[in-house]
Amino acid sequence: MKLNHVVESQQFTVPMLMDIFKLADEMEPVMARGGTRDYSNKIVALLFYEHSTRTRFSFESAVMRLGGKVLVTENANQFSSFMHGESLEDTVRVVGNYSDIIVIRHNEMGGAAHAAKVSPVPVINAGDGKGGQHPTQALLDFYTIHREIKTIDGVKVAMVGNLAEGRTVRSLAYLLGKFERVKLYFVAPTHLQMKGDIIEYLNHHKVWFTIEEDLRNVINEVDVVYMTRLESTEREGRTDSSFFIDRELLRFLPNRAIVMHPLPRQNEISSEVDSDPRAAYFRQTRNGILVRMALLVSIFDGCCWPRAD
Ligand code: CP
Repeated sequence: MKLNHVVESQQFTVPMLMDIFKLADEMEPVMARGGTRDYSNKIVALLFYEHSTRTRFSFESAVMRLGGKVLVTENANQFSSFMHGESLEDTVRVVGNYSDIIVIRHNEMGGAAHAAKVSPVPVINAGDGKGGQHPTQALLDFYTIHREIKTIDGVKVAMVGNLAEGRTVRSLAYLLGKFERVKLYFVAPTHLQMKGDIIEYLNHHKVWFTIEEDLRNVINEVDVVYMTRLESTEREGRTDSSFFIDRELLRFLPNRAIVMHPLPRQNEISSEVDSDPRAAYFRQTRNGILVRMALLVSIFDGCCWPRAD
């Protein structure tokens, strides 16, 4: 099976993940010497219909480190022929003639999948709509856990915040569900809890999970606290302390554990946590470059894996 479109986390097999992470490790010295493995003949188009800092810049940086070139439209809703009523499908058919890979962030769930159906070149989903997926973020999150906790089998992860609409936690839950004895703690207000599709997937794969409403109930037993934003409107009238971490709560987090966040954060992690060695969220952003370089190389090189059962 050749790595072509990257649309959702479920498509990755465990051997694929391990190979991509090995390649990500190999990108460390490449990055340290300023780049390249000479992909100077490659062009990657970044088609972003929604705002982004990390995903867009890290993909741009990853392509440039590999010697390639980028075509970028930020805010494609305003600065592309979308303004003249051009469909996503037509835009992708055209941009695919100008590039070797299209990285797309779309405001609608399923946007990347629609693009992949018609694209003449591989499409990478850089986030699709509220409650969609963000598979490359999940890969870098997973790589961070793999590097810092050393093992994935048996890892205990608390996911905190808006789990219903958070595409990063949704994609990460799908990836973690592929490993043995993983334990997932979903910490959210009832109406923002994980949706049925993830719950069904985890039940089907016999993954242990629990539903919680307060981080304080579980923080002392997990290896990873993965914080995400609650929508600001959801904050009104509620006590944020159930979904908030500060220095006081950190006292209960095991020493071997880490705090992650896909960023940007609002105020769910106090800035006083930043100096604690367990705060991994800025290391996460750096890992994003390595993983995205590895993913691009895997696609450029036409890497193949055995088909999933
Ligand atoms: N983590 C993430 O997707 O960040 P951006 O929205 O800045 O790309």
